[in-house]
Amino acid sequence: MPVTKHINELIASRRALLGGLAGLPLLNLAACATQPATSGGEVAPVATFDSLPATNADTISLPAGYRWRSVIAWGDALFEGMPERPDLDAMTRAEQERRFGQNNDMLALFAADYAFPPPTDQDRLILCANNEYATLDLAFPALDRPQNVSAAQIEALIAAVGVSVVELRREGASWRATRSPAPGQGFNRRITPFTPVQFAGAGAQHPWIVAAASVVNNAEPDRTGGRAPADAVRCGTMANCAGGLTPWGTYLTAEENFDGLFFGRDTDIDARRLSDPAYALDSTSFSYPGGGGSAAPLAPRQFRIAENPHGPALYGWITEIDPYDPNSTPKKRTSLGRKKNECATTALARDGRVVVYMGDDQRDEHVYKFVTRGRFDPNNRAANMDLLDEGQLHVAQFLENGEGRWLPVSAAAANAAAEAEESPIRFRDEADVLMRLRDAARLMGATPMDRPEDVEAVRDNEWRGLGPVLIACTNNSERGFDHPGNPRRESERPYTAQSNLTGHIVRMDEAGGDCASERFTWDVFAMGGDPDATELTAAIRGGGVHAHVSTKVNGVAKNVGARFACPDNMFIDSTHRVWIATDGSDGIFADCNDNILMAPLNAEGPRPIKRFMVCPVGAEVCGPLMAPDERAFFTSIQHPGANTVAGAEYGFLRWSDPPQKPPSSFPDGGDAWPRSAVVVITRDDGGRIGD
Ligand code: FEO
Ligand code: CA
Repeated sequence: MPVTKHINELIASRRALLGGLAGLPLLNLAACATQPATSGGEVAPVATFDSLPATNADTISLPAGYRWRSVIAWGDALFEGMPERPDLDAMTRAEQERRFGQNNDMLALFAADYAFPPPTDQDRLILCANNEYATLDLAFPALDRPQNVSAAQIEALIAAVGVSVVELRREGASWRATRSPAPGQGFNRRITPFTPVQFAGAGAQHPWIVAAASVVNNAEPDRTGGRAPADAVRCGTMANCAGGLTPWGTYLTAEENFDGLFFGRDTDIDARRLSDPAYALDSTSFSYPGGGGSAAPLAPRQFRIAENPHGPALYGWITEIDPYDPNSTPKKRTSLGRKKNECATTALARDGRVVVYMGDDQRDEHVYKFVTRGRFDPNNRAANMDLLDEGQLHVAQFLENGEGRWLPVSAAAANAAAEAEESPIRFRDEADVLMRLRDAARLMGATPMDRPEDVEAVRDNEWRGLGPVLIACTNNSERGFDHPGNPRRESERPYTAQSNLTGHIVRMDEAGGDCASERFTWDVFAMGGDPDATELTAAIRGGGVHAHVSTKVNGVAKNVGARFACPDNMFIDSTHRVWIATDGSDGIFADCNDNILMAPLNAEGPRPIKRFMVCPVGAEVCGPLMAPDERAFFTSIQHPGANTVAGAEYGFLRWSDPPQKPPSSFPDGGDAWPRSAVVVITRDDGGRIGD
């Protein structure tokens, strides 16, 4: 992003869905660890690789003895009988619905033959990948001006978002993507913002959903030949950031920055805001409409805010997908609440109930967990399919003394809290609390966090949570007072005195080692920053603003070794090594592109951190995970070329006069147009990653 932008935008990962359309003049568009040890207490073995030096190379940089290759990239064919590589300028909705989506984020792997516990010796895996957003800046290479974008191209961009499912086959220690015969045959599949989905759970009949569903189904015809259930809404899923997977073999995709898909201006909804305070709060909290004002006539009707003012109520949910059935209808699990979901990580409580951890990634939002009423049945997959519809949602409250509480969320509790605070906000029923969860959580005393992104629980080989849970707080660029769990570092520079530009990771330990507990303790796991810094602050990329880079808390260093900032996604392997992917680290430490680091879960003294991988120019790295045998490491390279090493946004450079070439050609190299891609990393000797 351009260095001239406000610091909030500079380091935030909240990219507009149709980013290339935003801010342009004429348009005026404003895990799958399968063999963890049985306790969370031991120290992980030292990884043998040498920590990588910082680099701005436009490739995947790895330690000696490791190699990488691209598994699949944006636009690659998912089905037989079509050209394998895309013609990006000829991309249509119909083509995109049969090709891998853009800007892949979270990754999950499933054994091709479901079993529980998940087997580790598979030759075939199902890969689910989120496609978080689409951007005109990196699409349609021959397009000369954004003002010349067509309605068909906008529809193709929307279809590039959602989820891609693709079968992988083993090749030695590595893996390659395969193509299915045709949609509905084999595992390969696209799920887009047009796909029929069902709303399930306690919030499914909220009047905002009912109203928006009617608009969507009138605008988007049934293209399934009547195969979709009668109550399906053809709104699909979008803004899919991270997520999780369940022990019964389904994929949970987390809808995050859904505001970016809606086209319109504030004036389109001003009257509704004035007449409905709840709507005013909701649209302000989630920042919709996202933009695209003068391009609104080109957008499909259901995404125009003036014609579908409650459209944003259809998103912000955790959506569950059965990857084993390419014709299954995804279900939005409304009982888990609506927010800007970064993730949905599952673990089993001691009594077999299922716990889902979620972070709401926006400044000063909250961390949640849902505990099902029913128990997981390892012998009957079908019996688990609707477990996520009934249970208790909680929100985290961190206390100064290092303890914390999970507050049960309900309409009664939220209304009582509102009354005690003399707030006029009220909630009609449980559905209303789930829809407007942020307001309920805030009133109840939930702790504001520094943009909680991934939440990962340490599990054993039977999916049981062992107690430790890590929360990546990527950063908080606004001044604010510290909150328990979100330390502020002292600084001689006023601007940085109470912000947290480099982020940190919090560890909580559930009481009694039980994920269903309503009590926990917490500590800071790692501080983003520079352990070797000789000064408390450092100028960030582009200068002007200084970030506090000390990794000390109360004078004690939390970590040593590689410097990093903006932790985002994490993966905890069977040896309890924590693999940390960054998003925006290059905006703080300009000498190194975003990267993956490794830290032991448990450590004596300051936690030693090594840099394992550095991604190409202008990309963020996300979705880290290992194959079940831990001999292959998968990760998403999202939006290569979105900015230069110096931090200039390509969305600005591309439409300049004269236009400039993208600053990356990943993964194809040469003069190729950059494409987001899934890559797999293996060892030259085929051994286990990290050993
Ligand atoms: Fe999509 Fe919070 O990153
Ligand atoms: Ca993320």
